[in-house]
Amino acid sequence: MRRSEPRLQRKLLAWLLGPLAVLLVLDTGAAYWNSLRFSNLAYDRALHEIGREIAMHVRLDGERPRLELSKPAADILFVDPEDRLFYRVVGADGTHLGGDAQLPAPRNARPAGSDFYGATVHGEPVRMMVARMRIGPDAQLPEVLVQVAETLHKRDRFTWEMVANVVLPQLLLIVMATLVVWFGVSRGLEPLQRLRRAVSDRSHLDLSPIDTHDVPGEVRPLVDDVNALMARLGRTFDFQNRFVADAAHQLKTPVSGLKAQIELALRENDLQRVRHSLAQLYISADRLSRLVRQLLSLARNEPGALDSMQLQPLDLNAHALEVSMEWVPQALKRNIDLGFEGTDHALMIDADHDRLRELLNNLIDNAIRYSQPGGRVTVQTSQTGDDQCRLAINDDGPRIPVEERARIFERFHRLLGTQEDGSGLGLAIVSEIATLHGARITLEEDSDGVGNTFSVFFPLRAGDGAAPAA
Ligand SMILES: Nc1ncnc2c1ncn2[C@@H]1O[C@H](COP(=O)(O)OP(=O)(O)O)[C@@H](O)[C@H]1O
Ligand SMILES: [Mg+2]
Repeated sequence: MRRSEPRLQRKLLAWLLGPLAVLLVLDTGAAYWNSLRFSNLAYDRALHEIGREIAMHVRLDGERPRLELSKPAADILFVDPEDRLFYRVVGADGTHLGGDAQLPAPRNARPAGSDFYGATVHGEPVRMMVARMRIGPDAQLPEVLVQVAETLHKRDRFTWEMVANVVLPQLLLIVMATLVVWFGVSRGLEPLQRLRRAVSDRSHLDLSPIDTHDVPGEVRPLVDDVNALMARLGRTFDFQNRFVADAAHQLKTPVSGLKAQIELALRENDLQRVRHSLAQLYISADRLSRLVRQLLSLARNEPGALDSMQLQPLDLNAHALEVSMEWVPQALKRNIDLGFEGTDHALMIDADHDRLRELLNNLIDNAIRYSQPGGRVTVQTSQTGDDQCRLAINDDGPRIPVEERARIFERFHRLLGTQEDGSGLGLAIVSEIATLHGARITLEEDSDGVGNTFSVFFPLRAGDGAAPAA
């Protein structure tokens, strides 16, 4: 069995991790920006202090300021394990007083207080401080421009350490959330997996309901529907099985009868008697072929046949007349008065031509077959409403008792004591064909009090009903 990750699990994780990842990126950006600000704030102050210290080493040589920063003093001032420091002092008149002459000129030659910005010194990125500073506490003393630059190593380290402090716990949280969701959803979906196994491990013959005991509430209606479907399927299978068994039973008798008659005929020497046996055989074979035809017709008109059916516009009135005419010789043989009473306009319905003929044939056949000789059979068509028409066949036969009226439409059901040949399938076929056409059958006593009336009500074609043809 293939075990794929449940889609739900992947979907939930995607929904969770996607936004969290975006959030993490945004947060990392914000943390970086903030950390940079703080590290600059802290280290810029130190840089300013160094600048102030340098300014203290400027002495007045008469009127001219002069920088007196000895090498050891500078070494102490600039001692730093991580970064390199550069400086330069310029007099108020722009003369270079000391430090690194190659330090780039300040971006603002007359800063109001002190100015801090990024620059490049000797190919290395630095933070630059520029400030005007008085060379001593006395307000009379002149000012000099002090520049101090420092490489960015400790600032970078500090910034990234702060970013890591913020981001790492969040990353850990996301990983943990992922694990929790993963396991949580796995456990939550476990009943569904069990349900899936219960269905996939099942034999195709097992139509018993699925156990809904620990099915989650969300899928419960689905499982109930599947169970209902299986129950319906079960009934259909039962019905089919019964039908096949009945059909086999029904076929067995005539086939063994046929065999017995053939054996009998084979033993005869008298040609006259052989002829007689053959005539009997013909009748039996005819009966058998009718039975087989009806069984096939039943199978053909199962409710599932709806897909393959070709409904076409058809005039019920004309069609009923045409089929009735074909039965005249048969009626004459039994001395039955077969009549037709139609409408004076077409009754257009949507129908399958051959199936409708089969329906009519079965009803007329019954009416003629079960009527008393000398009786009357009438086929009628009429419009019974704006959107409905009726096909009725009434006869003079023995009345079908009320309690039998529903049952005679069942397969193989025949009235007790029916003498005529038959299988009990005709009305079952009629009923199936009617259903396929959306029609409804009723059976009543004939209005004249003798015999039965079978009525089939068909829906008229939309638009054709109200307009009688010329
Ligand atoms: N017009 C009718 N008049 C009296 N009985 C009928 C009529 N049509 C059907 N029946 C009864 O209903 C039974 C079932 O009819 P049907 O399904 O056509 O099967 P079959 O004609 O093969 O017996 C018949 O055996 C008969 O007893
Ligand atoms: Mg019949």
